[in-house]
Amino acid sequence: MDSIWIEGGKRLEGKIPISGAKNAVLTLIPCALLTEEKLTLSNLPRLADVDSFSHLMNELGVGTAFAGKKGGRTNRAITLDASHIDSTVAPYELVRKMRASILVLGPMLARMGESTVSLPGGCAIGDRPIELHLRALEAMGAEIELAEGYVKAIAPGGKLPGGEYTFPVVSVGATENAVMAATLCTGTTHLLNAAREPEIVDLCNCLVAMGAKIDGIGTSHLSITGVEALHGADYAVMPDRIEAGSYACAAGITGGSIELVGARASDMLATTNALAAAGLLTEFTDEGIKVSATGKLRPLAISTAPYPGFATDMQAQFMAMMTLADGDSYMEETIFENRYMHVPELRRMGAEIETRGRSAIVRGVEGLTGAKVMATDLRASMSLVLAGLAAKGETEVLRVYHLDRGYERLEEKLAGVGATIERRSGG
Ligand code: UD1
Repeated sequence: MDSIWIEGGKRLEGKIPISGAKNAVLTLIPCALLTEEKLTLSNLPRLADVDSFSHLMNELGVGTAFAGKKGGRTNRAITLDASHIDSTVAPYELVRKMRASILVLGPMLARMGESTVSLPGGCAIGDRPIELHLRALEAMGAEIELAEGYVKAIAPGGKLPGGEYTFPVVSVGATENAVMAATLCTGTTHLLNAAREPEIVDLCNCLVAMGAKIDGIGTSHLSITGVEALHGADYAVMPDRIEAGSYACAAGITGGSIELVGARASDMLATTNALAAAGLLTEFTDEGIKVSATGKLRPLAISTAPYPGFATDMQAQFMAMMTLADGDSYMEETIFENRYMHVPELRRMGAEIETRGRSAIVRGVEGLTGAKVMATDLRASMSLVLAGLAAKGETEVLRVYHLDRGYERLEEKLAGVGATIERRSGG
C-alpha cells in the first residue's frame, strides 16, 4: 500500500491551484440521470471518488467519456450520456466503496419511476444514516421498501407528484437527493430547513442550466417546480473550498504564505474568519486567496455547524494547526459523533489534546515530532499530513487511499510550495 512520506519543518511559500470540489462533483455526476441528453462537467478533479462514481454510472448503463490529458492539470472534463439506462439498481459492491452513491436514488427514481440502492452502511466518522433522504422522497410521493440491505423507491404511476418536507436536521446529501428528484415531479416541491452549502448552490445552478425551475437557491427554503424533461448542459464544477482551507492551514502550520489560486472567498468565510482569528493574514487577490503567517498562531474556539457555520470537513485540519498555537484551543464537533479519529495519531506526534464526547481541548505545544501514522478518513488523514509538514523529522502517513479520494495531486501541490514530500509504494 502506498504512503505519503514527509520531511517536516519547511516553511511553505508559493501558489497552489485549487481543483474542482469533490463534494460538488459527487452530486453533479448523478444529475446526468435526469436527462436523455449529454451532461458535460468541466473543472473535474482527478479523484478516486470521481472514478468510483463513474464506474457506478457505467453499471447503470450511463456512458462516460473523459476529456483532457491523462495526468493533465487543467480543465479535465467528463461527459455523461444517460440516453439509455440499463439498470435501476446500484449494487452493494459499488455503494460500499463510496457513500455518496446514495445520490443516484432521487434522480433515478424521478427519471425511471423506480430506483434500488444498496444501503451504504456505517462509516468511519459516525453512523451516517439515510432516513432523511427517504422521508423527503416519501413526502414527494415515493413508496419506499427496505429489504435485504437495499432500499427500493417507487413512484406510483411512474412520476412523483412532489410535496413539502421540513428537514428535522440539516442534511447535505438528503437535500441533494430531494432537489434532484423534485426537478421532474409533476407538481411543486418545497424543501424547508434545506442545507445551503455552496455545493448545493452549485447543484441547483447546474440543474437550472439543464432546464430545472428552482427558487430560493442559496437559502434554506427551496421551491422546485417540476418540468416534463431536463436537457443537456455544459457546467464547470465550483472550486473546492475544503481543499483550499486545508492548504491555508498548511501555510499556517508551517509559518508560510500560500496563494490559493482559484479559491472562491465567498464560499469559505467561516474558514477565512477562523484563519484571521488564528493570526493569519488573509488577502483576497485577483487569483484567489493568499494566506500568510504573521507570527505565533493564536488559539481558537471553534464549533462546527452547517453552512454558513464552520465546516465539519475543516475541523481536523484546524485541530492540527492549533496543536502549535500559543495557548489552549477549544473545539466542538456538532455534526458527526465520531470525528476525532485523528486525535490519537496527533498525540503520537507530540500534540496535547483531550477529548470528552464532542468537545476537545488542544493545548498548544512548542513543536511536533515526525512519526508513522494512519487515519481512518479523508480529512483526518489531511490533518496528519499538515502535522507532518510542521513536525521535526520524518512522518509517514499510511492508508493514502483516503487522501486520494479527496485531494488531487496532493504531494505535487505541496512539493510545489517547498514541502519535502513524496509518495512511496509498498509499506
Ligand atoms: C456531506 C459531505 C461531507 C460533510 C457533510 C456535512 C458529501 C459527499 N459529503 O455528507 O463531506 O462532512 O456533508 O457537511 O457531500 N443525518 C441523519 N439522517 C440522514 C442524513 C444525515 O441523521 O438521513 C445526520 C448525519 O448523521 C449527520 C448530519 O445529519 O450528523 C449531517 O449529515 P449530512 O449533511 O447528511 O452529511 P453527508 O451528506 O453524508
